[in-house]
Amino acid sequence: MSLLIHNLELCRHDKVSLLGPLNLSLEPGARVALVGESGSGKSLLAQAIMGMLPPGVHLARGCVEAFGCRMDQPSQARQTLRQRRIAWVPQDPLMALNPLVQIQDHLVLRPWVHPPESRQKVLEQMRPLLEHLHLPTDSNFLRRFPLEISGGQRQRVVLAMTLAWNPELLVLDEPTSALDPELQQEFLSLMNALHREGGLGWLWITHDLNVAAAVTDRVLVLYGGKVLEAGPCGEVLESPRHPYTRRLREASQGEPSTEGGFLDAPGRRPAGCPFRPRCQETQPTCVEWRPWQGSSEMGIRCNQSLRPY
Ligand SMILES: Nc1ncnc2c1ncn2[C@@H]1O[C@H](COP(=O)(O)OP(=O)(O)O)[C@@H](O)[C@H]1O
Ligand SMILES: [Mg+2]
Repeated sequence: MSLLIHNLELCRHDKVSLLGPLNLSLEPGARVALVGESGSGKSLLAQAIMGMLPPGVHLARGCVEAFGCRMDQPSQARQTLRQRRIAWVPQDPLMALNPLVQIQDHLVLRPWVHPPESRQKVLEQMRPLLEHLHLPTDSNFLRRFPLEISGGQRQRVVLAMTLAWNPELLVLDEPTSALDPELQQEFLSLMNALHREGGLGWLWITHDLNVAAAVTDRVLVLYGGKVLEAGPCGEVLESPRHPYTRRLREASQGEPSTEGGFLDAPGRRPAGCPFRPRCQETQPTCVEWRPWQGSSEMGIRCNQSLRPY
């Protein structure tokens, strides 16, 4: 397995649960989407996978393993693995860029670890990738600093930096949010080509079901830190079983529901299905609802039969 998440639960320091319990395993080359609205815990899961939880959040239970290495415990092996075999594209590209370092120096970061390629040679090798990502390759652009380029360009610089390492597994946190639709389409095709030709796999975080359908085979629907529904992408998106997934689907088809309400803050979420306060299809059994917890232990979802994942 390239990624194994076992019984993971993330909590705040006041013990309020933010995410989980969650089990997930990804075989090499698997393409999995994680969808859900803001505040659901998507970025925290990405950070937990990388072993980089922010202050105020801790692993209350469970563990994360990538390529056989514990990601939730510091080690030399983890350090070597990160960005080389398992790479993370953070939601905010500025998290990955140093504002005082020129774009070209970010792009040649790799040879600092793998000497002794010359910087010009590395930039030359990266040219096709930069072109694929529609990034300028002239020195005027390459000498700029991160704050001197657009948000979309920053996102693509981070993607180029990440892909240049030839990782086997990517954790992409909303990587297309700052890209215009045409560029987004090209990026999705580039990624699918890397999957087909190089066996690249990913956990792709997005709130856009159309993106999920284009680049993944399986999907997890997260809401309020719990997985509400999981299964093959086609099935879940074509015939969603959970009312929340149906609502997401309507929104992706340009028919956002008029039902109001927001995701409850952590600590104020109800027992059972976290979507209950906003759901118009609640039943008495929703109180006993348990989240999907992975293939070994499937939760009870809306009293409907479970799909194999
Ligand atoms: N450092 C932190 N300390 C306390 N709570 C946090 C911290 N980071 C995130 N959270 C909370 O965890 C929940 C999930 O956050 P996040 O993973 O960023 O959501 P998403 O990426 O799905 O929008 C939110 O309710 C958020 O407020
Ligand atoms: Mg996020």
